[in-house]
Parts: sequence; structure tokens; C-alpha cells
Amino acid sequence: MPVSVGIVGGTGAQGRGLALRWGATAEVLLGSRSPQRAVRSAEELAAASGGSIRGASNREAARTSDVVVLALPYAARERALEELAPALAGKIVVDMTVPLDPSRPTAVRLPRGGSAALELQAQLCGRARIVAALHNISAARLAALAEPLRGDVLVCSDDEAAKARVIDLIDALGLRGLDAGPLVNAIAAESLTPVLIHINRRYGGSNAGIEIVGIPAKT
Ligand SMILES: NC(=O)c1ccc[n+]([C@@H]2O[C@H](COP(=O)([O-])OP(=O)(O)OC[C@H]3O[C@@H](n4cnc5c(N)ncnc54)[C@H](OP(=O)(O)O)[C@@H]3O)[C@@H](O)[C@H]2O)c1
Repeated sequence: MPVSVGIVGGTGAQGRGLALRWGATAEVLLGSRSPQRAVRSAEELAAASGGSIRGASNREAARTSDVVVLALPYAARERALEELAPALAGKIVVDMTVPLDPSRPTAVRLPRGGSAALELQAQLCGRARIVAALHNISAARLAALAEPLRGDVLVCSDDEAAKARVIDLIDALGLRGLDAGPLVNAIAAESLTPVLIHINRRYGGSNAGIEIVGIPAKT
């Protein structure tokens, strides 16, 4: 049976792009504060891609999916999780939150806990299997369905089995998921995104990403 992926905040740029790509190999449940908005978005995306994409409330997407992806703005996440935390207990939770400086998106503003991912782990009191990933892939690239994806995704977690499962899901997107170590290393991935935003502005475009050189190809 295909894996089910719930995307909390799935109506946004990143959630929609991921749903478009994952819908080909997984059962995607797109979440929103408004189930109606989620259903509308899911119908549009399923029609555009032919993928398996349905809409639901954020809570339903979190409760019923094998893997839950948080695609919320950093400023909204803590409050949203007050409601969703019980549904996330025991689940693999993929966090891509980038804590950008609100007044300067070309700069990171890491929270006191060290990183957005570590803060999430503390907020969920270790009850979910947190995997940090997907910080450095742009929504614009995910949305361009006609163009194959290329690039690496740094995947960090203290839970090796959860990390391996998320790497497989990332490979299914057409990207190369790389084991980038423990969850604390998410600080690097979160900090890299404003660098890519700056590079986009400096050199033009919205598609800057990363590739790690010097390692053998994955088999
Ligand atoms: N965009 C990118 O290229 C990109 C790249 C890498 C990483 N990221 C990270 O991925 C995450 C999602 O980015 P995004 O650009 O997709 O975000 P976004 O479009 O700004 O927001 C995503 C969704 O979050 C929900 N939301 C917004 N404000 C909320 C609030 N106050 N409370 C609860 N839900 C709220 C909305 O869904 P509903 O209104 O339907 O509930 C919205 O569609 C962010 O943490 C970002 O740092 C983004």
C-alpha cells in the first residue's frame, strides 16, 4: 500500500508543490485551517497532476497519515501545534520550517532553542519522531511539474529509522535525500535558506538549490 503523507498548511506554496510531486507515488492529504480551502486546492492539484491528492482539516491530515509534513510559516507553527500535538504523537513529523528574520528574509534568526527543529522537538516533548528536511528546495521548483527536480536535500534526525523513511520519500520526489546527521544539524539547513534567497536576488531567479559533491552516487 502506498505511504500516506499529510501536509499541514498544505495550501501554501511549499505544501502545494510537494503535493503535486508526491501525489504520483503516495496518498497525499492536504491540510488547512479551512477544510473547504484544502479540498479546493487538492482538487486543482489532482486535476493538474493526475496524482492522489485529497483535502482535509490540518487535524485530520495529521491524525490519519503515516508521515506528517509541517508546511507552516515559523511564526504560525507554535500556536498551530497547540491544537495538533495530540494527533502527532508517535508519528514521523517532517519539519521544513525556516526561521527567517521577518524584516530581512536574506538573514536567519535562529530561535533560542538553537533551531526551529529543536524547538519543535521540545514543544512536542519528544513524543513525535522529528525529521528536519526540505529547507533548501524552492516552492517554484516543486511547482514546475514539467521540469524534473535535481538537487540534494539535507535530512537530519535523531531517529535513524524515521530519517531513512523520509530519505526514501525525498528520493521519490526526484531529489537526492542525504543523511546529514542528528537533528541539531538542522541549524545548518535552516541557516542555508536565507543564503539561497540572497543568491536568487543577487544572480536572478527563484530556483537556487544545493548539491553536495565528492560522494559516490546513491545506488
Ligand atoms: N516557499 C518556499 O519556497 C520555501 C522553501 C523552503 C522552506 N520553506 C518553509 O516551508 C514552510 C512553508 O512555506 P510556505 O511558503 O508554503 O508558507 P505559506 O505559503 O506562507 O503558508 C503555508 C500555509 O500555512 C497556513 N498558515 C498561514 N498562516 C497561518 C497561521 N497563522 N496559523 C495557521 N496556519 C497558517 C496557510 O494555510 P491555511 O490558511 O489554508 O490554513 C498557508 O497556506 C515555511 O516554514 C517556510 O520557511 C518555504
